[in-house]
Amino acid sequence: MSNFRPIEIAVIGPGALGGTLAAWLAQDPKNALTLCARTGFAGLEAETPAGKLMAGPTVITRPEAAQKADWVFVVTKTYDSEATLSWMPGLLGPDTKIVIVQNGVEHVSRFAALLPGREVIPAVVDIPSARTAPGRVVQNALGWIVVPEGPDEQAFVDLFAHTPIEVSAVSDWTSRAWSKLCLNCAGAFPALTMRSTGPVWNDEIERLVRGLVEECAAVARAEGAIIDDNIIESVVEGARNAPEGVGNSLYADRMAGRPMEVDARNGVIVRLGAKHGIPTPVNELFVALLNASGSPWVSD
Ligand SMILES: NC(=O)c1ccc[n+]([C@@H]2O[C@H](COP(=O)([O-])OP(=O)(O)OC[C@H]3O[C@@H](n4cnc5c(N)ncnc54)[C@H](OP(=O)(O)O)[C@@H]3O)[C@@H](O)[C@H]2O)c1
Repeated sequence: MSNFRPIEIAVIGPGALGGTLAAWLAQDPKNALTLCARTGFAGLEAETPAGKLMAGPTVITRPEAAQKADWVFVVTKTYDSEATLSWMPGLLGPDTKIVIVQNGVEHVSRFAALLPGREVIPAVVDIPSARTAPGRVVQNALGWIVVPEGPDEQAFVDLFAHTPIEVSAVSDWTSRAWSKLCLNCAGAFPALTMRSTGPVWNDEIERLVRGLVEECAAVARAEGAIIDDNIIESVVEGARNAPEGVGNSLYADRMAGRPMEVDARNGVIVRLGAKHGIPTPVNELFVALLNASGSPWVSD
């Protein structure tokens, strides 16, 4: 008789990114996937750059159905973080490892407040994905995931060993997270104007885009991140050349009438800037205008 026990992995929030990660994790027969979904579906299909993945994970929509897991991945939008707590009593045992896969830089502080006494592993991800229907996702690039070095992080990296996704544990996670935020914060511009920056580029737009990113870099450095000036130039250059129709997830959420992660992407720059006495007028302006862009859109 075999003593095989699968690695139980629960994914809370099997949307664009959560569905993509779950589809990949389900390809390893060592893993047993449970998707904790707000909107139920049967079967998971992911179109990926490496081909189509099919999986038949357990999908549950009621927290009472949750069983103890070895790993819990939280992959909701940041503004839905608190709502994930209903799943935790069923999923968490004393040794369950929790990975927060969200944008921004506040993974740890957000969940320290929500799950006092539990350690979480923060993950920064660059895997552009979209959801076409519940349980149907498209992964647009293989991308990467970065977690900080620590006792469980190698086990996390190993979970993806069978995939072509680049997964690593790094000593300076803070710099990676803030570098990604330098890119993401500029997305406030197309989200506000509802069009790409490239076709309307001029000196005023450059000043504003540069302001968003320079403020982010200044706050990042005050938080201990190492941010090369080249990052600022490459974000400005990317915005200058962005063709019409190319947005980002903030833009996509606004276009689809969904809530936006304004606070996690730009609000955080304003809040932490204030803590360090760093002025952030451009981010403040965009946060105020995006938040005032009104019902039914809400920010986190
Ligand atoms: N998509 C990307 O390309 C990408 C890349 C890098 C980082 N990220 C970050 O990854 C995070 C997730 O983004 P996403 O694009 O995957 O968002 P998404 O497609 O909107 O997926 C989020 C999922 O969470 C579900 N959800 C919300 N509250 C829930 C709850 N209480 N219990 C269970 N499920 C719940 C939603 O359910 P419904 O089905 O009912 O809506 C949805 O399926 C964000 O922080 C985002 O910024 C995304």
